[in-house]
Amino acid sequence: MKRLVFPGKNFPVYVFDTYEEASLAAAEVVVSEMKKKPEFLLGLATGSTPVRLYRALIEKCRAGEISFSRVKTYNLDEYYPIDPKNEQSFLAFMKANLFDHVDLPKENIHIPNGAATDPAAEAVRYEEELLAIGGVDLQVLGIGSDGHIGFNEPADEFILPTHLVTLTEQTINDNSRFFRAKSDVPTHALTMGVGAIMRAKKCILIANGKNKAEAIRGAILGDPTPKNQASALQFHRDVAFYLDKDAASEIL
Ligand code: GLP
Repeated sequence: MKRLVFPGKNFPVYVFDTYEEASLAAAEVVVSEMKKKPEFLLGLATGSTPVRLYRALIEKCRAGEISFSRVKTYNLDEYYPIDPKNEQSFLAFMKANLFDHVDLPKENIHIPNGAATDPAAEAVRYEEELLAIGGVDLQVLGIGSDGHIGFNEPADEFILPTHLVTLTEQTINDNSRFFRAKSDVPTHALTMGVGAIMRAKKCILIANGKNKAEAIRGAILGDPTPKNQASALQFHRDVAFYLDKDAASEIL
């Protein structure tokens, strides 16, 4: 593992040989933070990146090292519109990859409702939940190949509250691998804005693979810009990046 710090950038970047090592190191952070506080508020991400981290959390929970019994989870985003029972929904993804395997009470799960009839009202409802907690204790993040965090796509501005977003062609292409056909990928999503992510007391961003290298370069070394929404993290009070060497290839 290599720890990189860049001049003028006030956060650590950890580079590992493999995705597995990066995930396990990130899992250690989640575990040690969870142990400090049983009523932990945990912000969660979907996508293939955090899957190994979630498996590590399941193992730690089964071993009795951590418990989710008093934890509350807040997911970054959900497709819109989508039936939460659809196996491609982010709720279904979270159940399959974490929720169904740990002692997390169902009522402690928070995620935007992809089946809400009024998406604007649903965005307001979710933001009110997020404002009420004041910020999660730890936010787990992945990154899109276009620099998105949650589903905050490249834009002319940073949108702070939860909102309905139109997914970019690039994101639809990237995520089509989870669907039968590209035309099945929802065109919209409800996503936490950059505001709730910035309110998190701590953020860890995991990235692996060459297809993330350019987005990671922009996020870490570029001037902060809404064209790469992850670059907002440069202003976060406590953020760390966990990368495999491919994702780090443009910053080494
Ligand atoms: C997803 C999510 C993001 C995630 C990103 C990368 O669809 N909305 O939270 O970080 O796109 O996904 P993956 O980890 O599959 O590359």
